Formats: sequence, structure tokens, C-alpha cells
Amino acid sequence: MAVSRADAAGASTRRLAFKEFAQYQAPTRVVSGQGLLDSAGFEFMKEGAKRPLLVTDQVIRGTGLVDRVGAGVQDGGLEVAGIFDEVPQDSSTVVVERCAEAATAAGADSFLAIGGGSVMDTTKVAATVFSHGGTVRDYEGAYTLPRADDGMGPPLPIAPLACIPTTAGTGSEVSIAAVIKDDAAKVKLELADLPLYPRLAILDPDATRTLPPAIAASTGMDAMTHAVECYVSNDSSPHEQATALHALRLIRDNLERAVHEPEDDDARGNMLVAASLAITINLGATHSMSHPCGGQFGVPHGVANAINLPHVVRFNAAGGGAIADGYRDVSEILGLDPAGPDDEVGDRLATHIEGLVGSLGLPTRLSLVGVPEDGIPGLVEGAMGDGCTLMNPRDPSEDDYADLFRAAL
Ligand SMILES: [Fe+2]
Repeated sequence: MAVSRADAAGASTRRLAFKEFAQYQAPTRVVSGQGLLDSAGFEFMKEGAKRPLLVTDQVIRGTGLVDRVGAGVQDGGLEVAGIFDEVPQDSSTVVVERCAEAATAAGADSFLAIGGGSVMDTTKVAATVFSHGGTVRDYEGAYTLPRADDGMGPPLPIAPLACIPTTAGTGSEVSIAAVIKDDAAKVKLELADLPLYPRLAILDPDATRTLPPAIAASTGMDAMTHAVECYVSNDSSPHEQATALHALRLIRDNLERAVHEPEDDDARGNMLVAASLAITINLGATHSMSHPCGGQFGVPHGVANAINLPHVVRFNAAGGGAIADGYRDVSEILGLDPAGPDDEVGDRLATHIEGLVGSLGLPTRLSLVGVPEDGIPGLVEGAMGDGCTLMNPRDPSEDDYADLFRAAL
């Protein structure tokens, strides 16, 4: 049983329960530095790639970035098998399967994603379908990829996979997970297994130079949500909590600069690092609320998180004890007073986040981004069924979620 710092008069330390189970690994090789795009071939060669398919979207291709990476791939002695640039903003199972077919048709042996979360998640799952056959649905859920020894051994490898993120937010370039929309069922499928960790991530601020400020803001708030949710989640490991706190320091010092001064290479580079430190699958109710906002009303993921996070912070902090103490740590890093009653700590942090969201120029209400009041029952159902609900430190009921959505509307 943890002793709340608020209750422990004068004490600057607290007794933390030792978790019954925690797991941590970060197998992706991360290289970061300005200009590393030009060494994409040299770096990807070390992961066994010879003929990568480059996967991107048409907006990024239009900036010339893909041509630069392609030249970097060839400069390392690799061949570009082809370019698949048909990934939409919110990728779907149909696109993933088309991407896998394109790789087969082009004689590719590996995948290099150049893009944001949608491009990277598409590429990760396309590499899976390319390597093992079947459809996206076959791999839905956690630890569902084929394994040796009748499923009890290690997962079978997939084709070499590298990511160059062009947004600083999702952290997909170093994560175990991917989210893909099933258009027919209007749901987002969540996939997570060890081979989905890319073998290589290249963090180069040149790749985010043309990012529109609104996207820098929303994806940056996604990273901040990962860090805040991870730090108080039931399921996070102490190792992830450590990386979450440093991600928060980098976000505190760089997010607004990266949005308001897009020519600031240091700020954009530091935000790429922050996003890769913040990412985890151990999240909470903010993500449970934001997933159906995206699936049912097309609200961009980072925007939904930016709107929902403060309300979840208030709700969770009212649970008190270790949860509120987690928010005290977050508050300290963000320069806020961590003292006072639990609900006050939550309210102060939530108000700070709302101010940040406003200063970044993002919407602060779901009603401003296409969510109608009569959509709430469907959103509640989606949030209750979302896997992140189980990891939230306070157990939300249907009524709690309805209140949270109403507060965010
Ligand atoms: Fe997220």
C-alpha cells in the first residue's frame, strides 16, 4: 500500500509498492542526428535490407523528402524496389494488404517507412502480411504472430523494417504496436507483437522540417499523453516510467518552440527524441476515449488526446493515493506546485494542460471537431471495450465515461 505524499507530513519520500509483474524491452536500434536521412542505406544495410520498398503518403512525397531518402538508400549500396505512396491519413486494412502486395510485386525484401503514425503502422503490418501471408484481421490483438514450437517459442521474424518518422508524436518507430482502421466494421484494430518493433529508427529533424504547425501540435500532444498516461498506468514498468519523465522534460522545453518556430532544428530534433521516449502501450482512459473518437467521428488521434487528457487527469487524481502522487511527479517536472489535496493537484495539472493545448492553437472541445452530443453513447461503448481502459489507474464505469465525454464535449 502506497503512502500518499500528501498524507506523509514532512516526508519527501514515499513507500511505493513493488509491482507484481512488469516487463520492459526496447529492441529498436535508434540513430538520431541531423542529416542522417542521407545515410539511410548505410544504416538499413546493417539490418539485412537489400531491396526495400519505401512506404509513404502523397503529401510527404510532394515535399521531396522521399527522393532524398531514396538517394540515401542507394548511396549505401541498396536498391529501391519501389515506392508505395498510397497511405491515407487514417490507414485501413485494405491499404495495408495493398502495400504488402506491392512489395511482393516489386520483389522487395524489406520495408522503409517515411511518414507519420499512419504510414509507419501501415508499413509494420504490411511487413507482417508480406512475411506470413493472410490478412490484417489474422493478427489482431496481442502476441498473435506465428511462433516456433507450436506457438510456445519465439515469434518468427518478419522482413527487415525501418522507420523515419516525419512527425514527433506517435512513437510508432520504436513501438511494439500498430493501429489500423477496419473501414467495414468502423473500428480501429490494435495489433501488438515483438516483431512489430522496427529494427531501425532514424530520428532526423530534417524529416519534420515541413511539418505544418497544427500537426506538430497535435502529434506533440499525443506524445505528452503517452508520457502522462504511462506514468500513472496500472501496467507500466518502472523503466518506462523513467523514460516518460525525461520525455516530459523534453516536451516541456521543446513542444511550443517546435510548433511556433518550425525552423528550430534543436526543438524539432528534441521532440523526435521525446516522442520515442514517451511511447508505450501501457496507457489509460484518455486513449480509450480517443480511439472511438477517431473510429466513429474521424477526430485525429493527437487532437482527441489533447482534448480528453485534462478531463481524465481530473477523474484519476480524484482517486487519490498513488495516482495523485504520480501526478505530483508530473507536476514538478512541468514546473507546477505539487502540494495540496489530491483533487487540487489534478485540477492544477489539468488546467495547465488545457492552457498548453490552447496556446498550441488546438481545439479544446470535442464539439468543435465533429462530435455530436448524441454520439456519446456510442463513444462510451467504444471506450468501455478499449484495451487501454484496463490499464487506467482508476476503474471508469459507463457513467464515468459518459460524464468524461460530456465534460470534453
Ligand atoms: Fe497515442
